[in-house]
Amino acid sequence: MSFLNTKVEPSRICLGAAVYGTAINRKQSFALLDTFAACGGTFLDTAHIYAAWLPNGQGMSERTLGEWLRVTGMRDRMVVATKGGHPPLDDVEAGACSRATLEQHLSESLRRLEIDTVDLYWLHRDDPARPAGEIVETLAAFAGEGRIGAFGGSNWTWPRLVEANEYARAHHLPGMAASQPGWALADRAPGPSPVAGMLYLDEATRRKHVGTGLPLVAYTSQARGYFGAENVQWAKSGFPGTAPRAPEYDSQVSRGRLMRSIELANQMGYTPNQIALAYILNQPFPTYAVIGTSRVETVKEACAAVKIRLTVDECAYLRDGAT
Ligand SMILES: NC(=O)c1ccc[n+]([C@@H]2O[C@H](COP(=O)([O-])OP(=O)(O)OC[C@H]3O[C@@H](n4cnc5c(N)ncnc54)[C@H](OP(=O)(O)O)[C@@H]3O)[C@@H](O)[C@H]2O)c1
Repeated sequence: MSFLNTKVEPSRICLGAAVYGTAINRKQSFALLDTFAACGGTFLDTAHIYAAWLPNGQGMSERTLGEWLRVTGMRDRMVVATKGGHPPLDDVEAGACSRATLEQHLSESLRRLEIDTVDLYWLHRDDPARPAGEIVETLAAFAGEGRIGAFGGSNWTWPRLVEANEYARAHHLPGMAASQPGWALADRAPGPSPVAGMLYLDEATRRKHVGTGLPLVAYTSQARGYFGAENVQWAKSGFPGTAPRAPEYDSQVSRGRLMRSIELANQMGYTPNQIALAYILNQPFPTYAVIGTSRVETVKEACAAVKIRLTVDECAYLRDGAT
Protein backbone atom coordinates (compact mmCIF):
# COMPACT_ATOMS: atom_id res chain seq x y z
CA MET A 1 0.00 0.00 0.00
CA SER A 2 1.50 3.31 -1.06
CA PHE A 3 1.22 6.73 0.53
CA LEU A 4 -1.86 7.34 -1.64
CA ASN A 5 -5.17 5.69 -1.01
CA THR A 6 -5.58 4.89 -4.71
CA LYS A 7 -6.70 1.61 -6.25
CA VAL A 8 -3.60 1.71 -8.45
CA GLU A 9 -0.14 1.86 -6.86
CA PRO A 10 1.87 4.84 -8.12
CA SER A 11 5.01 3.59 -9.91
CA ARG A 12 8.33 4.69 -8.41
CA ILE A 13 9.11 6.45 -11.69
CA CYS A 14 6.65 9.24 -12.41
CA LEU A 15 6.37 10.59 -15.95
CA GLY A 16 6.62 14.38 -16.17
CA ALA A 17 4.51 15.83 -18.97
CA ALA A 18 5.44 19.53 -18.71
CA VAL A 19 5.86 20.16 -22.42
CA TYR A 20 3.53 17.50 -23.84
CA GLY A 21 1.44 18.89 -26.69
CA THR A 22 3.93 21.75 -27.23
CA ALA A 23 7.74 21.27 -27.40
CA ILE A 24 6.99 17.53 -27.48
CA ASN A 25 4.19 17.20 -30.03
CA ARG A 26 0.98 15.24 -29.48
CA LYS A 27 2.14 12.17 -31.45
CA GLN A 28 5.44 11.88 -29.57
CA SER A 29 3.70 12.59 -26.25
CA PHE A 30 1.33 9.68 -26.89
CA ALA A 31 4.30 7.46 -27.82
CA LEU A 32 6.03 8.35 -24.54
CA LEU A 33 2.85 7.68 -22.55
CA ASP A 34 2.22 4.36 -24.34
CA THR A 35 5.82 3.29 -23.65
CA PHE A 36 5.59 4.31 -20.01
CA ALA A 37 2.37 2.33 -19.53
CA ALA A 38 3.89 -0.70 -21.30
CA CYS A 39 6.86 -0.53 -18.89
CA GLY A 40 4.54 -0.64 -15.88
CA GLY A 41 4.45 3.11 -15.26
CA THR A 42 1.31 4.33 -13.49
CA PHE A 43 2.20 7.78 -12.11
CA LEU A 44 1.77 10.95 -14.22
CA ASP A 45 2.82 14.50 -13.35
CA THR A 46 1.47 17.69 -14.91
CA ALA A 47 0.40 21.17 -13.75
CA HIS A 48 -2.17 23.85 -14.42
CA ILE A 49 0.61 26.27 -15.48
CA TYR A 50 2.22 23.87 -18.03
CA ALA A 51 3.40 25.12 -20.48
CA ALA A 52 2.35 28.77 -20.20
CA TRP A 53 5.89 29.91 -21.03
CA LEU A 54 5.57 28.54 -24.59
CA PRO A 55 3.43 30.09 -27.36
CA ASN A 56 -0.15 28.75 -27.01
CA GLY A 57 1.22 26.45 -24.31
CA GLN A 58 -1.08 27.20 -21.36
CA GLY A 59 -3.09 24.08 -20.50
CA MET A 60 -1.65 21.97 -23.32
CA SER A 61 0.08 19.46 -21.03
CA GLU A 62 -3.12 18.72 -19.11
CA ARG A 63 -5.19 18.62 -22.31
CA THR A 64 -2.77 16.19 -23.95
CA LEU A 65 -2.82 13.89 -20.92
CA GLY A 66 -6.61 14.13 -20.76
CA GLU A 67 -6.95 13.16 -24.39
CA TRP A 68 -4.55 10.23 -24.00
CA LEU A 69 -6.41 8.96 -20.92
CA ARG A 70 -9.72 9.12 -22.82
CA VAL A 71 -8.50 7.64 -26.11
CA THR A 72 -6.64 4.75 -24.46
CA GLY A 73 -9.14 4.16 -21.64
CA MET A 74 -6.23 4.25 -19.18
CA ARG A 75 -7.82 6.52 -16.54
CA ASP A 76 -8.38 3.69 -14.06
CA ARG A 77 -4.83 2.39 -14.51
CA MET A 78 -3.05 5.69 -13.82
CA VAL A 79 -2.41 7.85 -10.76
CA VAL A 80 -2.91 11.38 -12.06
CA ALA A 81 -1.12 14.23 -10.29
CA THR A 82 -1.45 17.86 -11.23
CA LYS A 83 -0.58 21.14 -9.53
CA GLY A 84 -2.29 24.44 -8.87
CA GLY A 85 -1.44 27.59 -7.00
CA HIS A 86 1.33 28.78 -9.31
CA PRO A 87 1.41 32.57 -9.63
CA PRO A 88 1.12 34.14 -13.09
CA LEU A 89 4.46 34.13 -14.92
CA ASP A 90 4.54 37.94 -15.11
CA ASP A 91 4.12 38.26 -11.34
CA VAL A 92 5.93 35.26 -9.88
CA GLU A 93 6.20 36.68 -6.36
CA ALA A 94 2.41 36.94 -6.01
CA GLY A 95 0.94 34.27 -3.74
CA ALA A 96 -1.62 32.11 -5.53
CA CYS A 97 -3.11 29.85 -2.84
CA SER A 98 -6.30 31.76 -2.01
CA ARG A 99 -9.46 29.67 -2.00
CA ALA A 100 -10.73 31.48 -5.12
CA THR A 101 -7.52 30.97 -7.11
CA LEU A 102 -7.15 27.29 -6.16
CA GLU A 103 -10.84 26.75 -6.97
CA GLN A 104 -10.31 28.24 -10.43
CA HIS A 105 -7.11 26.25 -11.06
CA LEU A 106 -8.61 22.95 -9.91
CA SER A 107 -11.79 23.27 -11.94
CA GLU A 108 -9.81 24.14 -15.06
CA SER A 109 -7.44 21.20 -14.47
CA LEU A 110 -10.32 18.74 -14.03
CA ARG A 111 -11.92 20.01 -17.23
CA ARG A 112 -8.72 19.81 -19.26
CA LEU A 113 -7.80 16.39 -17.89
CA GLU A 114 -11.38 15.17 -18.52
CA ILE A 115 -11.49 13.48 -15.11
CA ASP A 116 -13.61 13.84 -11.95
CA THR A 117 -10.83 13.44 -9.39
CA VAL A 118 -7.17 14.41 -9.32
CA ASP A 119 -5.49 11.58 -7.40
CA LEU A 120 -2.70 13.79 -6.02
CA TYR A 121 -3.04 17.57 -6.05
CA TRP A 122 0.15 19.55 -5.54
CA LEU A 123 0.47 23.16 -4.52
CA HIS A 124 2.98 24.23 -7.15
CA ARG A 125 4.36 27.02 -4.96
CA ASP A 126 3.83 28.17 -1.41
CA ASP A 127 1.99 31.39 -0.60
CA PRO A 128 4.01 32.18 2.53
CA ALA A 129 2.00 35.25 3.56
CA ARG A 130 -1.03 32.99 4.04
CA PRO A 131 -1.34 30.73 7.11
CA ALA A 132 -0.72 27.13 6.05
CA GLY A 133 -3.86 26.14 7.96
CA GLU A 134 -6.04 28.24 5.65
CA ILE A 135 -4.58 26.43 2.62
CA VAL A 136 -5.11 23.04 4.30
CA GLU A 137 -8.77 23.97 4.90
CA THR A 138 -9.22 24.69 1.17
CA LEU A 139 -7.60 21.43 0.10
CA ALA A 140 -9.42 19.38 2.71
CA ALA A 141 -12.68 20.82 1.36
CA PHE A 142 -11.71 19.77 -2.19
CA ALA A 143 -10.90 16.30 -0.87
CA GLY A 144 -14.23 16.17 0.98
CA GLU A 145 -15.99 16.95 -2.31
CA GLY A 146 -14.11 14.09 -3.99
CA ARG A 147 -12.45 16.39 -6.51
CA ILE A 148 -8.98 15.50 -5.24
CA GLY A 149 -7.68 12.38 -3.52
CA ALA A 150 -4.62 13.47 -1.54
CA PHE A 151 -2.58 16.67 -1.66
CA GLY A 152 1.01 17.76 -1.13
CA GLY A 153 3.41 20.69 -1.30
CA SER A 154 5.82 21.27 -4.16
CA ASN A 155 8.64 23.75 -3.48
CA TRP A 156 7.43 24.10 0.09
CA THR A 157 10.03 24.53 2.84
CA TRP A 158 10.14 21.97 5.63
CA PRO A 159 8.86 24.43 8.31
CA ARG A 160 5.83 25.23 6.16
CA LEU A 161 5.09 21.54 5.55
CA VAL A 162 5.25 21.02 9.31
CA GLU A 163 2.98 24.03 9.90
CA ALA A 164 0.42 22.58 7.47
CA ASN A 165 0.54 19.11 8.99
CA GLU A 166 0.36 20.29 12.58
CA TYR A 167 -2.73 22.31 11.69
CA ALA A 168 -4.23 19.30 9.92
CA ARG A 169 -3.59 17.04 12.91
CA ALA A 170 -5.04 19.53 15.40
CA HIS A 171 -8.17 19.97 13.27
CA HIS A 172 -8.64 16.32 12.27
CA LEU A 173 -8.13 17.13 8.59
CA PRO A 174 -6.02 15.41 5.93
CA GLY A 175 -2.53 16.93 5.72
CA MET A 176 0.27 17.12 3.18
CA ALA A 177 0.77 13.55 1.95
CA ALA A 178 4.15 14.25 0.35
CA SER A 179 6.67 16.87 -0.70
CA GLN A 180 7.89 17.53 -4.25
CA PRO A 181 11.21 19.43 -4.35
CA GLY A 182 13.91 19.29 -7.00
CA TRP A 183 16.40 16.53 -6.23
CA ALA A 184 19.01 14.54 -8.14
CA LEU A 185 22.30 12.81 -7.42
CA ALA A 186 24.14 15.69 -9.11
CA ASP A 187 24.95 18.63 -6.91
CA ARG A 188 22.93 21.77 -7.36
CA ALA A 189 22.98 24.59 -4.85
CA PRO A 190 20.20 23.63 -2.43
CA GLY A 191 17.45 26.04 -1.47
CA PRO A 192 15.74 28.51 -3.81
CA SER A 193 16.85 28.32 -7.47
CA PRO A 194 17.31 31.19 -9.91
CA VAL A 195 13.91 30.18 -11.33
CA ALA A 196 11.51 31.88 -8.95
CA GLY A 197 10.02 29.63 -6.35
CA MET A 198 11.81 26.38 -7.21
CA LEU A 199 13.30 24.66 -4.19
CA TYR A 200 16.03 22.00 -4.23
CA LEU A 201 16.38 19.48 -1.44
CA ASP A 202 19.19 20.03 1.04
CA GLU A 203 20.80 17.40 3.26
CA ALA A 204 19.13 18.68 6.44
CA THR A 205 15.70 18.30 4.84
CA ARG A 206 16.57 14.84 3.47
CA ARG A 207 17.28 13.84 7.08
CA LYS A 208 13.88 15.22 8.13
CA HIS A 209 12.31 12.85 5.62
CA VAL A 210 14.39 9.99 7.02
CA GLY A 211 13.22 10.88 10.52
CA THR A 212 9.51 11.34 9.74
CA GLY A 213 9.00 9.07 6.73
CA LEU A 214 7.21 11.83 4.80
CA PRO A 215 7.15 10.63 1.17
CA LEU A 216 9.17 12.61 -1.37
CA VAL A 217 8.54 12.91 -5.11
CA ALA A 218 11.70 14.33 -6.70
CA TYR A 219 11.44 16.48 -9.81
CA THR A 220 14.37 16.96 -12.24
CA SER A 221 15.54 13.62 -10.86
CA GLN A 222 17.82 12.91 -13.85
CA ALA A 223 19.61 16.25 -13.36
CA ARG A 224 18.54 17.18 -16.88
CA GLY A 225 20.78 14.54 -18.43
CA TYR A 226 23.95 15.12 -16.38
CA PHE A 227 24.38 11.31 -16.09
CA GLY A 228 23.54 10.65 -19.76
CA ALA A 229 25.77 9.24 -22.50
CA GLU A 230 27.21 12.59 -23.66
CA ASN A 231 28.45 13.48 -20.19
CA VAL A 232 29.76 9.96 -19.60
CA GLN A 233 31.96 10.32 -22.71
CA TRP A 234 33.03 13.78 -21.53
CA ALA A 235 33.93 12.39 -18.07
CA LYS A 236 35.92 9.54 -19.63
CA SER A 237 37.84 12.13 -21.67
CA GLY A 238 38.86 13.96 -18.48
CA PHE A 239 36.14 16.67 -18.38
CA PRO A 240 37.39 18.97 -21.18
CA GLY A 241 35.61 22.35 -21.44
CA THR A 242 32.04 22.58 -20.19
CA ALA A 243 29.57 19.76 -19.63
CA PRO A 244 27.74 18.86 -22.87
CA ARG A 245 24.53 18.28 -20.89
CA ALA A 246 23.18 20.15 -17.86
CA PRO A 247 26.16 22.46 -17.16
CA GLU A 248 24.08 24.06 -14.41
CA TYR A 249 24.72 20.88 -12.40
CA ASP A 250 28.46 20.83 -13.01
CA SER A 251 30.85 21.15 -10.05
CA GLN A 252 33.70 19.13 -8.54
CA VAL A 253 31.11 17.39 -6.34
CA SER A 254 28.96 16.44 -9.35
CA ARG A 255 31.99 15.23 -11.31
CA GLY A 256 32.91 12.89 -8.47
CA ARG A 257 29.35 11.56 -8.35
CA LEU A 258 29.32 11.08 -12.13
CA MET A 259 32.58 9.08 -11.95
CA ARG A 260 31.24 6.90 -9.12
CA SER A 261 27.95 6.35 -10.94
CA ILE A 262 29.97 5.15 -13.98
CA GLU A 263 31.93 2.80 -11.70
CA LEU A 264 28.82 1.27 -10.07
CA ALA A 265 27.03 1.13 -13.44
CA ASN A 266 29.90 -0.95 -14.86
CA GLN A 267 29.89 -3.26 -11.84
CA MET A 268 26.12 -3.75 -11.81
CA GLY A 269 25.34 -3.78 -15.54
CA TYR A 270 23.25 -0.64 -15.67
CA THR A 271 23.75 2.88 -17.07
CA PRO A 272 25.05 5.76 -14.93
CA ASN A 273 21.69 7.51 -15.40
CA GLN A 274 19.93 4.44 -13.97
CA ILE A 275 22.32 4.42 -11.01
CA ALA A 276 21.57 8.12 -10.42
CA LEU A 277 17.85 7.34 -10.38
CA ALA A 278 18.46 4.35 -8.11
CA TYR A 279 20.13 6.71 -5.64
CA ILE A 280 16.82 8.60 -5.34
CA LEU A 281 14.79 5.39 -5.17
CA ASN A 282 16.89 3.59 -2.51
CA GLN A 283 16.43 6.01 0.38
CA PRO A 284 15.19 4.93 3.82
CA PHE A 285 11.84 6.68 3.27
CA PRO A 286 9.28 6.49 0.44
CA THR A 287 10.62 8.16 -2.71
CA TYR A 288 9.51 8.59 -6.30
CA ALA A 289 11.43 10.12 -9.23
CA VAL A 290 9.76 12.40 -11.78
CA ILE A 291 11.50 12.15 -15.14
CA GLY A 292 11.33 14.31 -18.24
CA THR A 293 12.41 13.22 -21.69
CA SER A 294 11.45 13.43 -25.35
CA ARG A 295 12.83 9.93 -26.04
CA VAL A 296 11.06 6.59 -25.59
CA GLU A 297 14.44 4.92 -24.98
CA THR A 298 14.97 7.10 -21.90
CA VAL A 299 11.50 6.18 -20.59
CA LYS A 300 12.41 2.48 -20.89
CA GLU A 301 15.82 3.06 -19.31
CA ALA A 302 14.33 4.97 -16.36
CA CYS A 303 11.56 2.43 -15.73
CA ALA A 304 14.13 -0.39 -15.65
CA ALA A 305 16.03 1.44 -12.88
CA VAL A 306 13.36 0.51 -10.31
CA LYS A 307 14.88 -2.99 -10.16
CA ILE A 308 18.21 -1.71 -8.82
CA ARG A 309 18.87 -2.27 -5.14
CA LEU A 310 21.54 -0.08 -3.52
CA THR A 311 22.69 -0.50 0.04
CA VAL A 312 22.99 2.40 2.49
CA ASP A 313 26.77 2.21 2.01
CA GLU A 314 26.48 2.31 -1.79
CA CYS A 315 24.23 5.37 -1.59
CA ALA A 316 26.69 7.05 0.78
CA TYR A 317 29.55 6.14 -1.56
CA LEU A 318 27.76 7.63 -4.56
CA ARG A 319 27.06 10.83 -2.65
CA ASP A 320 30.26 11.32 -0.65
CA GLY A 321 32.90 8.99 -2.12
CA ALA A 322 35.14 6.79 0.00
CA THR A 323 35.26 8.17 3.53
N1 LIG B 1 7.20 20.98 -9.19
C1 LIG B 1 7.98 21.72 -9.91
O1 LIG B 1 8.20 22.91 -9.63
C2 LIG B 1 8.69 21.11 -11.09
C3 LIG B 1 9.81 21.73 -11.67
C4 LIG B 1 10.45 21.13 -12.74
C5 LIG B 1 9.96 19.92 -13.24
N2 LIG B 1 8.86 19.34 -12.69
C6 LIG B 1 8.29 18.07 -13.22
O2 LIG B 1 9.33 17.15 -13.40
C7 LIG B 1 9.33 16.70 -14.76
C8 LIG B 1 10.74 16.38 -15.15
O3 LIG B 1 11.56 17.54 -15.03
P1 LIG B 1 12.82 17.70 -15.91
O4 LIG B 1 12.40 17.59 -17.35
O5 LIG B 1 13.52 18.91 -15.45
O6 LIG B 1 13.63 16.38 -15.44
P2 LIG B 1 14.88 15.57 -15.92
O7 LIG B 1 14.42 14.21 -16.28
O8 LIG B 1 15.93 15.68 -14.87
O9 LIG B 1 15.46 16.33 -17.20
C9 LIG B 1 14.93 16.16 -18.47
C10 LIG B 1 15.97 16.67 -19.48
O10 LIG B 1 17.13 15.86 -19.33
C11 LIG B 1 17.41 15.20 -20.54
N3 LIG B 1 17.68 13.81 -20.21
C12 LIG B 1 16.95 13.00 -19.41
N4 LIG B 1 17.49 11.78 -19.36
C13 LIG B 1 18.59 11.81 -20.12
C14 LIG B 1 19.57 10.84 -20.46
N5 LIG B 1 19.52 9.59 -19.98
N6 LIG B 1 20.58 11.22 -21.26
C15 LIG B 1 20.65 12.48 -21.74
N7 LIG B 1 19.73 13.43 -21.46
C16 LIG B 1 18.71 13.09 -20.69
C17 LIG B 1 16.18 15.30 -21.39
O11 LIG B 1 16.55 15.37 -22.75
P3 LIG B 1 15.92 14.36 -23.84
O12 LIG B 1 14.58 14.91 -24.14
O13 LIG B 1 16.87 14.46 -24.97
O14 LIG B 1 15.88 13.01 -23.20
C18 LIG B 1 15.53 16.58 -20.90
O15 LIG B 1 16.07 17.70 -21.59
C19 LIG B 1 8.64 17.80 -15.55
O16 LIG B 1 8.06 17.33 -16.75
C20 LIG B 1 7.59 18.22 -14.55
O17 LIG B 1 6.50 17.30 -14.62
C21 LIG B 1 8.24 19.90 -11.60
